[in-house]
Amino acid sequence: MNIRLLNKDENPPMDLLLLADPSREIVEAYLERGECFIGESDNRVIGVYVILPTRPETVELVNVAVAEEFHGKGFGKTLVMDAIRTAKEKGYKTMEVGTGNSSIGQLALYQKCGFRIIGVDIDFFIRHYDEEIIENGIQCRDMIRLSMDL
Ligand code: COA
Repeated sequence: MNIRLLNKDENPPMDLLLLADPSREIVEAYLERGECFIGESDNRVIGVYVILPTRPETVELVNVAVAEEFHGKGFGKTLVMDAIRTAKEKGYKTMEVGTGNSSIGQLALYQKCGFRIIGVDIDFFIRHYDEEIIENGIQCRDMIRLSMDL
C-alpha cells in the first residue's frame, strides 16, 4: 500500500470515509478543515485517514478506514503509524484520537500503536448522532479519548 496526500482536485473516497463515521456532514466538515491521506494498492484506494489541527501543536486523527475486504491484514496499523509519522514531521507535539465505547477492535488498534486513554466524552454519540449505533452487541454512547505525545 502506497500512502499519499489527496490532491485538492481529487474526489475523497467517501465510501471509505463513511465506514469510519456514518455522518456525511461530520466527514465533510473534517475534510474541509483537515488533510486527507489515501492508501493505494493496484490503483485502488483501500485506506484513508484525515488529520485535523485542533489546538496549538495538537492534531486529531479522524476517519481511519480500510476497505472491508482488506481488514485484518495490517493496513489499519500501517495507516495509523503513517499518520503519527506525518504529524511528527509537521511539528505537532500531541496527537489525539477518539473512538466509541463499543469499538473494541479500534481501541485495540490505537493502544497497540501507542495511544493512551485520557478520558471519556460521556454520551457524545447520543448527542451528535440521530441513529442508534450498535457494535459488538454494545450500544455506542460514549467517546473514548486517546492521546499520544509525538
Ligand atoms: N481485539 C484485539 N485486537 C484487535 C481486535 C480485537 N477485537 N481487532 C483488531 N485488533 C488488532 C489487530 O490484531 C492488530 O494488531 P496486531 O498488529 O498486533 O495484530 C491491530 O488491531 C490492527 O489490525 P489491522 O489489520 O492493521 O487493522 P485493519 O486493517 O483491519 O483496520 C480499522 C482497522 C479499524 C481501520 C478497520 O477495521 C476499519 O476500517 N473499520 C471501519 C472504520 C472504523 O471503524 N474506523 C475507526 C473509527 S474510530
